[in-house]
Amino acid sequence: MELVTLKDVLEPAERGCYAVGAFNANNMEIVQAIMEAAAEERSPVILQASQGAISYAGLDYIVALVKTAARGVSVPVVLHLDHGTDFLQVMRCIRSGFSSVMFDGSRLPLDENIEITRHVVEIGRAVGVSVEGELGKIGGTEDHISVSEKEVLFTDPVEAQRFVQETGVDALAVAIGTAHGPYKGRPELDFPRLKRIRDLTGVSIVMHGASGVPDEDVRRGIELGIRKINIDTDLRQSFVGALKGYIAEHPDNIDPRKVLAPAKAAMKEIVRQKMRLFGCAGKA
Ligand code: G3H
Ligand code: 13P
Ligand code: ZN
Repeated sequence: MELVTLKDVLEPAERGCYAVGAFNANNMEIVQAIMEAAAEERSPVILQASQGAISYAGLDYIVALVKTAARGVSVPVVLHLDHGTDFLQVMRCIRSGFSSVMFDGSRLPLDENIEITRHVVEIGRAVGVSVEGELGKIGGTEDHISVSEKEVLFTDPVEAQRFVQETGVDALAVAIGTAHGPYKGRPELDFPRLKRIRDLTGVSIVMHGASGVPDEDVRRGIELGIRKINIDTDLRQSFVGALKGYIAEHPDNIDPRKVLAPAKAAMKEIVRQKMRLFGCAGKA
């Protein structure tokens, strides 16, 4: 199939009350692991590339890999830019064939975040590309800040209402207690805040930093309006874990394909489990 937009997969997710998994991809084996799981699970899927992934693999490689993989399956595939913080990088992704982009202006003052995000949405609308925005600061688990400091960074529901009205984004990433990277303890999600954001905006909400969030919290988030869920750390851990295991057991192997095969298989299994948890398995 040709690529579809984020909006194309979020509309059925809204009607069916499930979330679509968004998985970070950096190379061919990762793209294949995600796509094979999506095809076998009959799931719509979002493959996303960060600016770091684009620096690593190259923009044209990412687009060619994902388009080639999408052509080989009959499930809807979105190619999305994850955390695009640079307006010009966002434009390069649109021009290169991404069907969806995130403009992450969460580090900017609110008015500036609104202004640039609105501009990206205008351009996206003109060329048929969806846009995700971010409001509030989703940190990393390595950021050493206290709970009260964290709450200051959480998304303000009234600001979110203004942000969505003034930008017209297709999806909104929110800070409600998740963080990027491995959690040290159990993350404490602010569900009342999520509910209020959803009530005031009506927009599809994105959960970032979803690796390590307990299944019951993921399900509760979906009930409250989470429609896109970003997973990277769990993929990395499965891939590198299997890779290390293979190398430890086969110290004399020099064939990269033999090392990468179990890594890809382990990652594919994680993607499959997430698709079942998010409710998108069986929806394509
Ligand atoms: O949110 C960040 C993603 O996990 C991508 O990470 O910038 O190291 O590619 P990265
Ligand atoms: P994790 O690495 O914590 O799964 O977060 C992924 C993410 O939010 C990508 O934008
Ligand atoms: Zn993220």
